[in-house]
Amino acid sequence: MKGIILHGGHGTRLRPLTHTGPKQLLPIANKPMSEYCLESLRDAGITDIVIIIGGIGSNKVEEYYGDGKDFGVKLSYIQQDSPKGIAHAVRLCKTFVGKEKFVVFLGDNIIQKNIHEYADDFKNSNNDASILLCEVDNPSQFGIAEIENEKIVKLVEKPKTPKTNLAVTGIYFLTPIIFDLIDILKPSWRNEYEIVDALQMLLDANKKIRYYVITDFWKDTGTPGDILQANKIILEKMETYFNGTKEEDVTIQGNVMIGEGTIIKNHSKIIGPVIIGKNCLIDDNVYIGPNTSIGDNSEISTCHIENSIIMSNCKINCNVKIKHSIIASHSKISKHNNEQDEKIFLLGEGTKITL
Ligand code: TTP
Repeated sequence: MKGIILHGGHGTRLRPLTHTGPKQLLPIANKPMSEYCLESLRDAGITDIVIIIGGIGSNKVEEYYGDGKDFGVKLSYIQQDSPKGIAHAVRLCKTFVGKEKFVVFLGDNIIQKNIHEYADDFKNSNNDASILLCEVDNPSQFGIAEIENEKIVKLVEKPKTPKTNLAVTGIYFLTPIIFDLIDILKPSWRNEYEIVDALQMLLDANKKIRYYVITDFWKDTGTPGDILQANKIILEKMETYFNGTKEEDVTIQGNVMIGEGTIIKNHSKIIGPVIIGKNCLIDDNVYIGPNTSIGDNSEISTCHIENSIIMSNCKINCNVKIKHSIIASHSKISKHNNEQDEKIFLLGEGTKITL
């Protein structure tokens, strides 16, 4: 089986973070979100993978993953000229796929469960597609499956009055039949070629779509809130390590991961789950609280951070409580006076703020 990772799209809900690069490279627990997809495919034995790239900063994807050797896979890339929809992106892979079965993974979907058993089932079955469904609280925001007698009877994209709360996740097991259907697919009301519509055409043609309902963690990380939630869940599951150095009276509690060359100075408190990358400086009296990731080479002084993602090469030196924030790399926050208050930030790359 072959693998496809979708790394294009508009990323409008994540602006300004997506003004400088694709959302799928945004870090969750200090690792690009699409790397979790690549690992899911690789761990299911799928190592011949194409990545669909497009839009601002798509060169950064090739720079990061290269030919895939460092990640234990073989990678190639296809450029999508503009984000015309998931089905459009899949259609670009017809030559790459050839006659094989394949798995499409949306590069902003994170799933905790190993997909090995679903991939094997699909490989050995005569199903024309297989999809993973997951119960959600807000079904009108997703593609939803309607089920009767344990069979999918209808798939509806973002229904106004959803009949179930079973969302179609962004992991699709497909055969080349889908390409013929995408060729005759019409764009939707939002002018995109929808994969859910292509799957509905499979159903209309009496083809077999198998489904599984997954109960493990699955997240479509389309919004800042989704990213922070995924960051929390991944951090909770990581194993503690400490490769840095700490001065006297440092408090470290819970699940804490500290990278090589990182220095934690006097009277600082790190309350996990927290990850701090390599070569960071955590200055005196800093508080870093639960569900926080700090990227490599960042310096944090006189502040309190909780439930946030601070990317690499940031300099934060302000007497402020930062909560529920995402701060992109090379950002700088400083403050002139010493009053402490609370702030929420969503800062794109290279932002500079003086409070
Ligand atoms: P979406 O999150 O549905 O769309 P988007 O990325 O355009 O974001 P937004 O709605 O915030 O503007 O896309 C799902 C996944 O598919 C995501 O990983 C991006 C990818 N994708 C492509 O690769 N090509 C496309 O043409 C589209 C629409 C999405």
